[in-house]
Amino acid sequence: MRYFEDLSPSTGGREPRAWLRSSRPRIDLNGSWSFKLWDGAPDGIPTVDESWGALTVPGHWVLQGHERPRYTNTAFPFPIDPPYTPDANPTGDHVRTFDVPEYWPVDGAVLRFEGVDSCFKVWVNGIEVGTAKGSRLPSEFVVGEHLRPGRNLLAVRVHQWSSGSYLEDQDMWWLPGIFRDVTLLARPLIDDVFVHASYDHLTGAGTLRVETVPDAVVRVPELGIVAAPGESVAIDAVEPWSAEEPRLYDATVDVPGETVELRIGFRTVAMVDGLFTANGRPLFFRGVNRHEHDERRGRAMTVEAMRQDLVLMKQHNVNAVRTAHYPPHPAFLDLCDELGLWVIDECDIETHGFIYTDWRGNPADDPDWAPMMLDRMRRMVERDKNHPSVVIWSLANESHRGRNFGTLAAWTRERDPDRAVFYERDRTYEFSDFYSLMYPPLEDLEAIGTRTEDVPDETADRPDLEARRRALPFILAEYAHAMGNGPGGLADYQRILEHYPRLQGGFVWEWIDHGLLLPGATDHVYGGDFGERLHGANFCIDGLLFPDRTPSPGLLEYKKVLEPIRITGPDPLTVHNHRTFTGVDDLTLVWSITTDGTEVASGHLEAPDISPGRSADLPTPAAPFSTDEQLLTVRAVLAKDTAWAAAGHEVAWAQFPVEPPAAPAAAEAAEAASVLEGSPTAVLLEDGEVLRLGGGEFDRATGQLTRLFGHQVDGLVLDLWRAPTDNDNGQGGRNGVTQEWRAAGLDRLLHRVESVEVQDDGLLVRARVAPEGLGLAVRTTYRWRAYDDQLQLTVDVQPEGEWAGTAVTPRCGSWPRVGVRMTLPRTLENVQWYGGGPGESYADSRETARVGRYECTVDELQTPYVVPQENGARTDVRWAELTDADGNGLRVTGAPLFQLTARRWTTEDLETARHRSDLTPRDHIYVNLDLAQNGLGSASCGPPTRDSLQVAPYTYTLGFHAVKPRSAGPEDHQIP
Ligand code: GAL
Repeated sequence: MRYFEDLSPSTGGREPRAWLRSSRPRIDLNGSWSFKLWDGAPDGIPTVDESWGALTVPGHWVLQGHERPRYTNTAFPFPIDPPYTPDANPTGDHVRTFDVPEYWPVDGAVLRFEGVDSCFKVWVNGIEVGTAKGSRLPSEFVVGEHLRPGRNLLAVRVHQWSSGSYLEDQDMWWLPGIFRDVTLLARPLIDDVFVHASYDHLTGAGTLRVETVPDAVVRVPELGIVAAPGESVAIDAVEPWSAEEPRLYDATVDVPGETVELRIGFRTVAMVDGLFTANGRPLFFRGVNRHEHDERRGRAMTVEAMRQDLVLMKQHNVNAVRTAHYPPHPAFLDLCDELGLWVIDECDIETHGFIYTDWRGNPADDPDWAPMMLDRMRRMVERDKNHPSVVIWSLANESHRGRNFGTLAAWTRERDPDRAVFYERDRTYEFSDFYSLMYPPLEDLEAIGTRTEDVPDETADRPDLEARRRALPFILAEYAHAMGNGPGGLADYQRILEHYPRLQGGFVWEWIDHGLLLPGATDHVYGGDFGERLHGANFCIDGLLFPDRTPSPGLLEYKKVLEPIRITGPDPLTVHNHRTFTGVDDLTLVWSITTDGTEVASGHLEAPDISPGRSADLPTPAAPFSTDEQLLTVRAVLAKDTAWAAAGHEVAWAQFPVEPPAAPAAAEAAEAASVLEGSPTAVLLEDGEVLRLGGGEFDRATGQLTRLFGHQVDGLVLDLWRAPTDNDNGQGGRNGVTQEWRAAGLDRLLHRVESVEVQDDGLLVRARVAPEGLGLAVRTTYRWRAYDDQLQLTVDVQPEGEWAGTAVTPRCGSWPRVGVRMTLPRTLENVQWYGGGPGESYADSRETARVGRYECTVDELQTPYVVPQENGARTDVRWAELTDADGNGLRVTGAPLFQLTARRWTTEDLETARHRSDLTPRDHIYVNLDLAQNGLGSASCGPPTRDSLQVAPYTYTLGFHAVKPRSAGPEDHQIP
């Protein structure tokens, strides 16, 4: 059998060991290699000739112009024929020379690969030294005897497909190649190190024991420790490591000729009374699932990008990361230790594609595959065992049930009893220290919190396993699928997660969109962009970061709901410390009061240090008298620079109506009432085919608004449609709403004006708005009246007919939006508003929207989702202005609130675009002024959206005003 198809993990390799920073000489073998791609696996030793090109290592050949990347979600892109691979097995030969200096200690030298996808064979100076599988794991070969001073030749043959591929069916791009570092290491004298550093939270004492080679000396200078290998050293007082305070102690392990540098964190994790604790306290994960992804480099990550990921996580209140679904580059875990993140380190095992054989032949349940699986577990645990940040070992992702997990768990517990073991997909949880699910609806989560969840089928007739499972703490392994615009509902999940002690937090799916930017391209690609027949489309564009690492609105929302400090108020104004270990003396509280969005007072509040889990009341700042809307905003910001943010960085905030507490609501209602009930001050003029009312001009026959304060407008009509989001679409037709919306014809509504009534106080236009091909409708009236400088529109919407469904028409229970759309001249491109902002917000993703005055251009209102879809709405808008470069334009006021969307393309353009470059600005600005929109949810992989906009009667009112240049003096307003 060919080595890349057999079930041996590797041949000729060294035993797995820790990733160590050693003083031994090393030669970096990254850089430019000669490269040749073959359609299948060639025989013989790779030999460079003129047909070869060059390739940068680390790197994936498919991102450097050879062949193409391929994305599938669950399906193997080859027949399920384990352990075989198709004949068309792309194979990349990589060859380079390197110089070994005369003095360099070749004896026992080790060639180390941090990650090669998926199977490879190595030759040094023409001599075969071994093979390896396990893409996201290190391999080492002893090559010293084959080296010589001066020029040496290294050849590596990489097969894209191997038996190992059957264990690597993660939902991500298939990216072959030598994608992590390659290094030649002088023979390690310190072969391995295993640090055991615990912390006793009752006494504050630490214990240190370092297993390593005999005769080594372990030193921790700061603690005055000089110890022998295996010696247990008690330290009366140490500062513990936690994600909140990642205290590390520098240490060394020495033997003559080698020093290994360590950074030790003292911490103890344990299961106590059914909860997972660190240093004596139950942990709560505010987590994300992170794949390694770089828009240009794929999984060949730079240390800068790794650090950027972690800095962004810290800045957004994330405290935990699941390394979905494989061990990350080892430097990433060093950074987690340094910056402070709890880590679930996941093994490189996923056999998801066996779902298509109904799990027949699943390697996880076939003892023949046990050695290969155990090899992966060992290589992860041994490599990563010294990181204080790693607190849980995850056996795999989505590989169904199988005996081999018993083998992996048993070995892991034996080797490292000081950490917990996790596996989500075996519903007996026999081998896991946690109960876990993905994407449950809120009701299920709540039931788990109260331990009233249904018994899984798998444990129904196993009372022993069921009793064990029911006693386990729960981790939400994945939830809130952040695909496209979304996720919605984060606050609902957080509320439940925080409420029940059994629920120890969750991990949003997922950290970053996997969009790839190929050389010379401007659009990010995803599955299907190369005409592949089998692909996962844009299901991998589901991150909280855009592919270029810009935070999406979803991440800003997550930051808000995760706040470890909560501020409630305004009277009493209370600060709650939701951290686990630390007080709040790293924070400063600043406040400001705005009147109609303009700051009128501000200051600092002296907060006492508040212990974890406690709260404190502070004096509520007094507001100056005003009848206008006044808001108090209180912010908790970093008092000093940290490793991940500068002083002033905002950790938490809250906003409250003030003085008197009910004032804004009352004022809004009063304003609304006065607008609605006052007497119109302008009368309608008929002028041939044109009707004039206040600042508006209407077509006599259709009642259509044609000009607004001199600006040409078009098509102001009821709008119920939006460009469906990925979450609207659901997953494979499940849980989505788009199908229902389309079946009800909401994407093809036509208008029929029934009457244009000129009335004493204005204009009343009645219309029937209805879809092609169906009998249901929406009776709509547009009532226009003019008051002083305001033209006012009240829209009344009455659903009529079979929205509840018939024998042939399905039920339609929700609408995408209720509002009006219209076009404005393209010059009115500067936007100002007083309302929620600065970014977009939706019914179930608006915690992060703060009421204020904002301004930007129409282009800047857009959120650049990789796959265009509904985006950019601003909610809770009191007023908005759209003006041209001279400051002329329109102002829209709500009665009291509305939602604003403005773009240079139509909803239909947005709906049909598959990539951002498909959107070309048109000659107008398309504006939606909504009463409401449907929520977002995360049904692209998850339950149906809860915040739905019901099909029901609605009425709402808008006011339109002229805007003139602000610099103009008051008398200028008199000029007609
Ligand atoms: C999960 C899986 C992830 C990803 C996600 C949906 O079931 O573990 O890898 O596929 O669904 O994006």
